[in-house]
Amino acid sequence: MSEQYIVSPTSRIFGKINVPGDKSISHRSLILLSISQGTSKISGLLESDDCISTLNICQLLGVDIIKQSNGDYIVKGQGLFGLKEPKRNLDCGNSGTSMRLLAGLLCGQKFSSCLIGDESLTKRPMERILIPLQLMGGKMHLSKNNTAPINIDAAQKISPIVYQMPIDSAQIKSSIILASLYAKKTTKVIENNATRDHTENMINFLGGNIETENKIITINPCEKLISKDINIPGDISSAMFIIVGCLISEKSEVTICNVGLNKFRTGALEILKMMGAKIEIKNVNNIGPEITGDIFVYSSKLKGISIPSKYVASAIDEFPIIFIAAANASGKTILKNAEELKYKESNRLEVMSKGLKKCGIANDLYDDGIEITGGNFEGGLVDSCGDHRVAMSFAIAGIVSKKDIHILNTDNVSTSFPAFYNLVKKMGLNIKRVKS
Ligand code: S3P
Repeated sequence: MSEQYIVSPTSRIFGKINVPGDKSISHRSLILLSISQGTSKISGLLESDDCISTLNICQLLGVDIIKQSNGDYIVKGQGLFGLKEPKRNLDCGNSGTSMRLLAGLLCGQKFSSCLIGDESLTKRPMERILIPLQLMGGKMHLSKNNTAPINIDAAQKISPIVYQMPIDSAQIKSSIILASLYAKKTTKVIENNATRDHTENMINFLGGNIETENKIITINPCEKLISKDINIPGDISSAMFIIVGCLISEKSEVTICNVGLNKFRTGALEILKMMGAKIEIKNVNNIGPEITGDIFVYSSKLKGISIPSKYVASAIDEFPIIFIAAANASGKTILKNAEELKYKESNRLEVMSKGLKKCGIANDLYDDGIEITGGNFEGGLVDSCGDHRVAMSFAIAGIVSKKDIHILNTDNVSTSFPAFYNLVKKMGLNIKRVKS
């Protein structure tokens, strides 16, 4: 039985809300506190399927992680060298972040392990981490298609490298950083376009020593990380569905409090502002490893733009919902240089293009992007292909559709935003959930 959404036209959405914790920061807090020394507390952990996969794996590696009655998690760190050999395969479910980051961590351990994933994750490219990790001396093997399962042998020695990134990817960068915690000398990673730096920020917060200058990340050897309590801000990638929902509906006004505003995650805000979105940021707070703030959003008349390539890396997860904004804008929106979208939880260029066409929105697919002509959503049947962000994007499109939008395969919304359905319903979205 799989879940579906049916969304009917909605007059307005409103409210002052919080979105659940940031997915990227939740993964990193579980992984890094597991290898820190001492006991610490995580507040605001995202309890989504993806982060629970990481949590379960840390527990299988011998880390005590206990949920408290107030929702906080206590992590009893085992230190850099205290993880235990797991008794079974480590299941990452749908989570590419779990698989790629943990592969880096595990290739530095003195025991063997095997990372597995669901059908969708098992199709996603893993050679991108195999190459640098093998250069560092990691002993790992992929399937013949260069995909999971990832079998990792006990490490002999992890050597430092200087690695020029062939792709803009925080997952590859973080995988290398986690492995380099087991090297005795400095590793350098050189980026073409800077990607989210949550791993670097959190390692420094816990006493490590990573310096970044001109897109060169220098990971200096560190003897230990020291546990510290971590407060996880709201996820800007989840907030973006609510932001676009408010922008495209009439007479709407929404405030989203305490959202993570890391500068490598806010590309979508810049893109939407270029399109004419009325968005204000207030109450910026710079305490702890990440910047946070409140986002105020108002209904806006959007116009199509040519999206500057410099924003692709910092808006990488937000393109499905940006495409919905583009479909509601006057004129054409053009995206190029975004080939990476083909390798996400689905081929997001193709799946979004098909879904938009089914709803009556004209678009042309490029090999590395898409051109969308703003128009009217007529309604229709859309297959999300099990991609959480595609499912939520078309749910938001339902606000302005003439007839219902019926979205298939929405179960995976729980991988990143399990509260989505209840939250948007409370904010006024005309949404129903059915099983069939
Ligand atoms: C993530 C990095 C991004 C993003 C993913 C989460 C992370 O992937 O798409 O949802 O937490 O590091 P890439 O770095 O592979 O582009």
